[in-house]
Amino acid sequence: MHLSFLASLVLASSLSVATAQKVKGTPKRGLDYYAKRAGLKYFGSATDSPGQRERAPYATAYPQYDAIMWDSGEFGQTTPTNGQKWTFVEPQKGIFNFTEGEIVATKARDAGMYLRCHALVWHSQLAPWVESTTWTPDALRVAIVSHITNVVGHWKGRCYAWDVVNEALNEDGTYRNSVFYQVLGEDYIKLAFETASKIDPSAKLYYNDYNLESPGAKVDGAKRIVKLLQGAGIKIDGVGLQAHLVAESHPTLDQHIEAIHGFASLGVEVALTELDIRLQTPATATNLALQKEAYKNVVGACAQVKGCIGVTIWDFYDPFSWVPSVFSGQGAALLWFDNFTTHPAYDGVVEALKNKTCGGRKKASRSSMDWNA
Ligand code: XIL
Repeated sequence: MHLSFLASLVLASSLSVATAQKVKGTPKRGLDYYAKRAGLKYFGSATDSPGQRERAPYATAYPQYDAIMWDSGEFGQTTPTNGQKWTFVEPQKGIFNFTEGEIVATKARDAGMYLRCHALVWHSQLAPWVESTTWTPDALRVAIVSHITNVVGHWKGRCYAWDVVNEALNEDGTYRNSVFYQVLGEDYIKLAFETASKIDPSAKLYYNDYNLESPGAKVDGAKRIVKLLQGAGIKIDGVGLQAHLVAESHPTLDQHIEAIHGFASLGVEVALTELDIRLQTPATATNLALQKEAYKNVVGACAQVKGCIGVTIWDFYDPFSWVPSVFSGQGAALLWFDNFTTHPAYDGVVEALKNKTCGGRKKASRSSMDWNA
């Protein structure tokens, strides 16, 4: 009797330890939790180094911000918003500085998150010396190879993916007249991917652009880039749909599915890489409802089409968004308001990941999920 009482005490205490451990080990049911349940690799948020750009005036918000960004279980992936861009990493010819990019890359590693690396060859936030030089084709080739060799080499083995070429297209699908295109034509795209593939064969190499989220001339242009590389036997693994969308005029679920599917059918993966959905400020019940629908459509499309592997929002906290400084009169584009409460769109994303978006539509390719657990 006495023994069995002891035994039951031991059993009871070991059970409560087990229960406590289970509770402790249970991931928070945040965005990354639901994304993984939906078959995606991650749901992530871009973030910047403290003090940079949009963040500078809001230092008092950092503790609450960091608790969500790094500790909450909401995010399984991040992208440095600015720190890996040319102007930061090679501000002068041949002088490399990885300090800014390392801040986010190190935190990602400590938090066990996927790191998307961004962006190697882009006409914007380019170091001034690249644009002020009068290039011969050979000299520009050498500069591109040196840049990619050093930058990809520095983060070798740490990037799930690299945005190798960013925003090379005009809205009509023709090539943007960047310094790279002016001097080298479309060969610069081949050179960039070829070089990146040699330096870090384990990184997925992406073409990344905006306005690729619904069918049209620009989507056709991006497909042409994928085929250009594939035809030349050069590695391209993915297309990034930046997904800077507008609440009041957003595409439909079916348009998103068609665009994503179109890329996936070329044999490359797809990711939503910079998702935000801006609205005309102030935020009202009406425009927030439109925003919720828009988030639900685009995340739902990614969750439903095999080949779409993850979603990254372009920061999560409205005050840190790039939108108000670039699109006058617009804002509130992310999922957390200034006071750290969530937008209705947060619930829209969760609903989309729970695959309620399509209301009875046959799930094309994701495995069936048990949402009761
Ligand atoms: C933006 C950043 O969010 C801003 O902080 C910066 O001032 C400008 O660039 N497409 C891209 C991103 O590929 O790198 C851009 O990020 C947004 C548009």
